[in-house]
Amino acid sequence: MSFPQSTLAPAGPQAQQIADLGWTFFAVCAVVWVAVLATLAWGIFRRRAGADPGPVVDPGPRAEARTTRVVAGLVGATAVTLIVLVGLSTRTGNALAGLGLAAPLTVEVTGHQWWWELRYVAPVPSQTFTTANELHLPAGIPVRLVLRSRDVIHSLWIPALHGKKDLVPGRDGELTLVAAQPGIYRGQCAEFCGVAHAEMAIRVVVEPREDFDRWRAAQRLPALEPATAEAHRGKDVFLRGACATCHRIAGTPAGATLGPDLTHLAGRRSLGAGTLPNTRGHLAGWIANAQAVKPGNHMPPQPLEPADLQALLAFLEGLK
Ligand code: CUA
Repeated sequence: MSFPQSTLAPAGPQAQQIADLGWTFFAVCAVVWVAVLATLAWGIFRRRAGADPGPVVDPGPRAEARTTRVVAGLVGATAVTLIVLVGLSTRTGNALAGLGLAAPLTVEVTGHQWWWELRYVAPVPSQTFTTANELHLPAGIPVRLVLRSRDVIHSLWIPALHGKKDLVPGRDGELTLVAAQPGIYRGQCAEFCGVAHAEMAIRVVVEPREDFDRWRAAQRLPALEPATAEAHRGKDVFLRGACATCHRIAGTPAGATLGPDLTHLAGRRSLGAGTLPNTRGHLAGWIANAQAVKPGNHMPPQPLEPADLQALLAFLEGLK
């Protein structure tokens, strides 16, 4: 099931707290707005009934004192309303911060221009693995996200699960969230970070615990060996060509970390951080000229011979 990218459709306790706060603000502000406009309308229309209001007369000290009391009372009510709203905001902030204590899973989320690096940290270094743009989480289990940036300020925003949080270069941020039910959630970079900012999406795949464990076990393995002669040739194209200067594939000599880790590329649903569905045709277009698809991204066009491109596609499609 796919959930809308909306703060009004919360799918976890953090997002629920934020949505509740948002609705409270909406209700209070709506009441204030209606009261102000009703008062304004009363002020405009009350004299209309009798045509001539006559000369201005001194209302006298008693009426003066009453007006002062009314104005003072309304100023007080305004101050109390603002203080209550600030208090509710602070309480929500504290409630969100207080959930960060017992998260059994940590994922390091690093923002790049313009994609997300996701590193699943394990106590044993050999069990740690890296993927990109598709965050898998177990349902109902608190997850701690450590937020970093490699270049400029980005902002992680998965509205159905949590509020926005900036990824600031040189300073680790943190976010703990729980996704209540399995499904696919969309997120988006929410801080302008350069030309391809709008194409910096993240997909969150929330699975039941057993499915997540199976996914994680598969991600920890090195890449599958090519199954066909063509895929073997594609691996050569990958390792000898420009691909290996930026990308890593575990289990091969390709170990660069400038671009997304491609060890299990074929298992991901999208290309270019949510820009294209991950199909053979789209992948071919992306490799041939990613600039035409997502202008400004750091992958240069790859003018490959058609046979080499087909072989490369066969190899990449085998990286389940
Ligand atoms: Cu990254 Cu906007």
